[in-house]
Amino acid sequence: MNHNESVKIVDIIHKPRYQRLLVRCIFHVKKEIPLIRVYQRNSERVAYLKSAIRQGFHMKILFWKGNHVGMIEYGPPKAAALPITGKNIIVMNCIWVHAKAQGNNFGKLLMNDMINSEKHASGFATIGLENYWMMWLQKQHMEKLGFKSIKSLKLKHKTYKRGHCFTIHLVWLPTSKNAQSPDWDESELLNGVDFCNSHPLYWGRYGCMKSGLRQIYVKC
Ligand SMILES: CC(C)(COP(=O)(O)OP(=O)(O)OC[C@H]1O[C@@H](n2cnc3c(N)ncnc32)[C@H](O)[C@@H]1OP(=O)(O)O)[C@@H](O)C(=O)NCCC(=O)NCCS
Repeated sequence: MNHNESVKIVDIIHKPRYQRLLVRCIFHVKKEIPLIRVYQRNSERVAYLKSAIRQGFHMKILFWKGNHVGMIEYGPPKAAALPITGKNIIVMNCIWVHAKAQGNNFGKLLMNDMINSEKHASGFATIGLENYWMMWLQKQHMEKLGFKSIKSLKLKHKTYKRGHCFTIHLVWLPTSKNAQSPDWDESELLNGVDFCNSHPLYWGRYGCMKSGLRQIYVKC
């Protein structure tokens, strides 16, 4: 499909008109929520952005015929929300193309945009989930985009579906011949994530926020 006319990828970091998308992501919300409420409801995300943007974080939105249907966010390890480390790598926090827009090459366009914008990087890393109870960020999604699993860890949640083990994969897409594989901090993984309250590994669900439990997973 030729998308030249109708597809645009915009880095929204320093564009005030896209603040809602930066804080709230590309969810379809019928009711327009006042920006101040968006900030209040997503205080962890706002705190994350404040430090991450200074350290090289990017969030890009793919617009198709004027509608925001895809996003990607990434940065060097110090700006990333996932505990992945590595030399000269970029960590992708998240990628998402709305179900209605999938299969149009938009995921690949977002990936290529990231790779072309970060030519100095020797490779790109993120996580993929297997046997998790939510459908998001599956290992097979990441494989479609060219990532391969190089390491994995079996975990279960402390307060939800207690006997259910799932696997987190560290997935990697090297873009240079001499790229050194990344690693991750296993103990940090046990905390879940707090940069996005819709992420499948968001720590605050299942009573954890209320009880103040910080380390929400244990090894299986
Ligand atoms: C992974 C994802 C970004 C891919 O986006 P997309 O626009 O559908 O992907 P593309 O059209 O660019 O296709 C990428 C590759 O996957 C393949 N592919 C796409 N859909 C596929 C399907 N249903 N089955 C098998 N392969 C598929 C394509 O053929 C293409 O491979 P190719 O380059 O070898 O031809 C998208 O599926 C997605 O957003 N998944 C959910 C991710 C998520 O959970 N995000 C977090 C939300 S909180």
